[in-house]
Amino acid sequence: MDVFILDTKEEIGQKAGKIYVDFVKAKPNAVMGFATGITPIPTYNYMAEECAKGNVSFSQMTTFNLDEYCDLPKEHKNSFYMFMMDNLFSKIDVKPENINFLDGNAPDWQAESKRYADAIINAGGIDVQFLGIGRNGHIGFNEPAEEFTDEAFKVKLTDSTIEANSIYFDDIAMPRYAMTMGIGSIMRAKKIVFVATGKAKAEAVKEMIKGEVTPHCPASILQKHNDVTVFLDKDAASLL
Ligand code: F6R
Repeated sequence: MDVFILDTKEEIGQKAGKIYVDFVKAKPNAVMGFATGITPIPTYNYMAEECAKGNVSFSQMTTFNLDEYCDLPKEHKNSFYMFMMDNLFSKIDVKPENINFLDGNAPDWQAESKRYADAIINAGGIDVQFLGIGRNGHIGFNEPAEEFTDEAFKVKLTDSTIEANSIYFDDIAMPRYAMTMGIGSIMRAKKIVFVATGKAKAEAVKEMIKGEVTPHCPASILQKHNDVTVFLDKDAASLL
């Protein structure tokens, strides 16, 4: 892992965003993996700004998001689909037909997992995957567990994740289940850009980088990937 400790979220967003922008300039039909949450917003802002300035076009890019809530309409304001539309996709020239999400309302999650795995393979595999981390060490919605998963699956969210994300739900109760890409699908990405900011992530970041590789801290598996760029602020890095 290459670990960079930077001063501000904006600086991290510029560095992480530049990796995406430079990659798409070199390979316009790149296949990009995205995450949701507070952490990636400065990265997405940088990408949108570069696109608005005419410095890059995302018109041939294909995207796959990591996860989506179950039992929540796709167009609900808190769906991850809407998050990506609001924070990135509506601001860049990505083609709607090139945007891929897991369907959290699919009647058969195993069939949905297979559909997503096939779509990733047919697109040529994910070139660059963005990752944030949960306070409990989750990546995507791979919560601490007894074993590492492979392809996408339906997960029961932990109390820690429900506590962290329920602040966004002011009209309905936060869903208790989600569909997430599995650890295997994340690890098959050719390159991983990982970002963590804030003190609340410091313990999980320490376990990820310095702890043993264990499904009890799903992010620790990244120690075994050969191309991970980690951007941290001083708070997230404070226990290293
Ligand atoms: C969401 C995802 C999650 C988040 C993590 C951190 O798509 O992949 O693993 O990255 O929960 O969320 P924030 O950035 O809101 O702290």
